[in-house]
Amino acid sequence: MPHLRPFVSAVVRPIPITTREERIAELDRAGHNPFNIRGEMVSIDLLSDSGTGAVSTDQQAWAQRADERYAGADSWFRFRDAVRDLVPHEHVLPVHQGRAAERVLFGALLGPGEISLSNMHFDTTRANVERIGAEARDLPSPQLFDMHSDAPFKGDIDVEAVKAVLDGPDGPRVKQIVVTITNNGGGGQPVSMANLAEISAVAREHRVPLVLDAARFAENAWLITRRDPDYRDWSPREVARRAFEYGDAVVASLKKDGLSHEGAFIAVHDPELADRCEVDIIATEGFRTYGGLTGHTLEHLAQGLREVLDPHYLADREHEAAYLADRLHAAGVETLRPTGLHAVYVNATPLLPHLQPKHLPDHALTCALYREGGVRAAGGGLFLSTFDENNELVTAPPFELMRLALPRRVYDHSHMEYIAEVLAEIAKNPERVPGYRLTHNPPVLRHFRCRAEPITP
Ligand SMILES: Cc1ncc(COP(=O)(O)O)c(C=O)c1O
Repeated sequence: MPHLRPFVSAVVRPIPITTREERIAELDRAGHNPFNIRGEMVSIDLLSDSGTGAVSTDQQAWAQRADERYAGADSWFRFRDAVRDLVPHEHVLPVHQGRAAERVLFGALLGPGEISLSNMHFDTTRANVERIGAEARDLPSPQLFDMHSDAPFKGDIDVEAVKAVLDGPDGPRVKQIVVTITNNGGGGQPVSMANLAEISAVAREHRVPLVLDAARFAENAWLITRRDPDYRDWSPREVARRAFEYGDAVVASLKKDGLSHEGAFIAVHDPELADRCEVDIIATEGFRTYGGLTGHTLEHLAQGLREVLDPHYLADREHEAAYLADRLHAAGVETLRPTGLHAVYVNATPLLPHLQPKHLPDHALTCALYREGGVRAAGGGLFLSTFDENNELVTAPPFELMRLALPRRVYDHSHMEYIAEVLAEIAKNPERVPGYRLTHNPPVLRHFRCRAEPITP
């Protein structure tokens, strides 16, 4: 059967068309940091898949019926039931976005000097561990570091490495294990059900809570049905439910697989932990039946959580990412394998062979993509690098990857073709792409806040 996209545009937004000169001026103004570029100067925005998707007509229809009462609104109960249809946890607490869920839950689980282990802490997850004075330690599967392997579950946590920490001198200081599904910092690679089962057994044995960072729970579930023969006949919803059973606690940004522009939840079994989180949420987010969200958003989310597990929608998402990756491969552009769902990651190292790690190749490629085509993406290297006080690179990132994040239900094949054509043009004359050095280098959340300048290597 040929692939049929399971939706059409009901409302459209024109996109800005800019000149190369305008984009060069904008890059200068933005300090060559994509996060500083104004939206009106971006034609195709692949900076993030978070909160950037299109809502459906059904989501809009439900939002019309939103109940905006302060407490106990109908919209809250519809949202809570949609979450409870997925998670087995008794206590569901709403917050305005994923990082608020992290702040609240980690604040209740961790103290200064303690340790959080993870397959990979996402950047805000790490920041929310470190702001407590705790340590965020990443223990990804070694398979993740083989860019060219097609291993199906490179997002796994390294269970043996976790055990070694728990049984070693640092063991008593480990107060949470966070498994991020899918592993966003690790190239959007999925986590297998077997890995979840194993890490959950280890966590239980050591009495350490297992936290699922489930921002892309539906995409992880879909990739399990596609890559694990044991789950081939399961629906994505069944797989998602099984995965959630392994978490003692869940934090889930719903700006991704909630198909919404904002929102998140915390889910826990332990009533005492729920109580501590609730106090923090009432003080900082909003009452426990809205957590900073409007009834309008709660309705978007309740409906979004139903739509996101539709196999046709998920198949389309896979198809779109694969289409872009195939186009790039045809142009000789290398991407992280296997292709996931929420993003295509371009390997800048072979594309820009004249640039050394100190020239920040993934950042250079990201700026070149914007300059040449008005396409905004994000480099991942800056977050994973360290620098000295003169902004000279000390530790290079394990990979130089540019992330092309795919907003949900927004772009179609013609946009993918355009992106691939721009990258193919860059690949024809890579030596024209300048390297970069940082001119402003904040130590925390560097990639969001830094400034840089082009240099000729
Ligand atoms: C894996 C993961 N966890 C947490 C977050 C934070 O969520 P939010 O952006 O809703 O604060 C993100 C956001 O991209 C993420 O990808």
